[in-house]
Amino acid sequence: MSSTYPYTRVFAPTLSVTETHRRRWGVLLFVLVLLGVVSLFSTMIPDNPSYGAPLTVVMADSRAPHVPNEGEDVPYWTITALLNYQYAREHGADFVYIVYQPDHPPTSSNSPVCTHPRLGARAASWCKLPAVWEVLRTRSSQNVMFLDTDAIFRSTTVAPSRHLDHLTPFRPIGFVSNQPWNDGVCAGYFFVRREAASFLKAWWDQEVPRKNLHRLWEQEALDKLLATSVPHHNQSLANPPYADQIVKLASERQFKVEDPQQLILHITSEEANRYALIRDRWDQVTSLKDRDGLRALLDQVPIVRMNASAVAVMMEEEV
Ligand SMILES: *[C@@H]1O[C@H](CO)[C@@H](O)[C@H](O)[C@H]1NC(C)=O
Ligand SMILES: *[C@@H]1O[C@H](CO)[C@@H](O)[C@H](O)[C@H]1NC(C)=O
Repeated sequence: MSSTYPYTRVFAPTLSVTETHRRRWGVLLFVLVLLGVVSLFSTMIPDNPSYGAPLTVVMADSRAPHVPNEGEDVPYWTITALLNYQYAREHGADFVYIVYQPDHPPTSSNSPVCTHPRLGARAASWCKLPAVWEVLRTRSSQNVMFLDTDAIFRSTTVAPSRHLDHLTPFRPIGFVSNQPWNDGVCAGYFFVRREAASFLKAWWDQEVPRKNLHRLWEQEALDKLLATSVPHHNQSLANPPYADQIVKLASERQFKVEDPQQLILHITSEEANRYALIRDRWDQVTSLKDRDGLRALLDQVPIVRMNASAVAVMMEEEV
């Protein structure tokens, strides 16, 4: 019998039949254990290796997340940070919540928070551009997903690859539709590959002086960068050097859930009940009444402080 197994004959010419059997069972067992270990490890790898993980999920605001004592509402940016952190963890991604360090505490969404060295002081909404640029410069992540603090990943069952797989080195930045406002793209959420750093700089370098400290801030700069027609109307994305660098997921909405595969849910300024929706979503994880529990969870969320004006100086110096 052993003659059909030349290797057994060569390496163990004196083995008895039972010893040969034991060896075969041993080899079989070894292979089974190996398969078990391999499949165990493969469940630890995120299900989306095609986009070249690692991925960093980034949020940024001049307001740090915090958990107030009972009687006071938990701010929405705390809830969105907890939800997005949870999403990042479940998909094997890094997470960072950046808190801007302005020279003076902002009193409204139009207060100056970061300064463009040539174009002047700008409101917090703009500062995501130097912030993400800095994340790309200092971290090794191949991809970043940025969300405004009023946006969440809607469901942990929809993987980041749903968006990231659309990116290429030549189209390194992606957006979802800006419907129902217009046919453009929304600046409140975007996903990038490393190659998007120069696009972010071009966006930051747009001159829209009236919008530095007024709605819709960097959204208008993006409209201007991509389009040749009047912003806020149905425009074609018609500025080829930049419009050709973006992925636009035109069929993907963000303000209304219409598709079970929709990844992002954004709070609109017009629909206050969306806050309630986000609160409900968190209440499925743990009660918002359990303030000590929330603080313990928030303690795990990586929060970094950033002087976005200092980053803007570096961006300006980059050739
Ligand atoms: C833009 O086009 C969409 C249809 O694609 C329409 O629903 C919307 O009303 C239009 N908006 C404006 C401002 O013309
Ligand atoms: C942030 O950086 C700018 C530019 O380097 C500097 O003028 C400013 O004082 C810094 N602000 C803080 C709070 O460190």
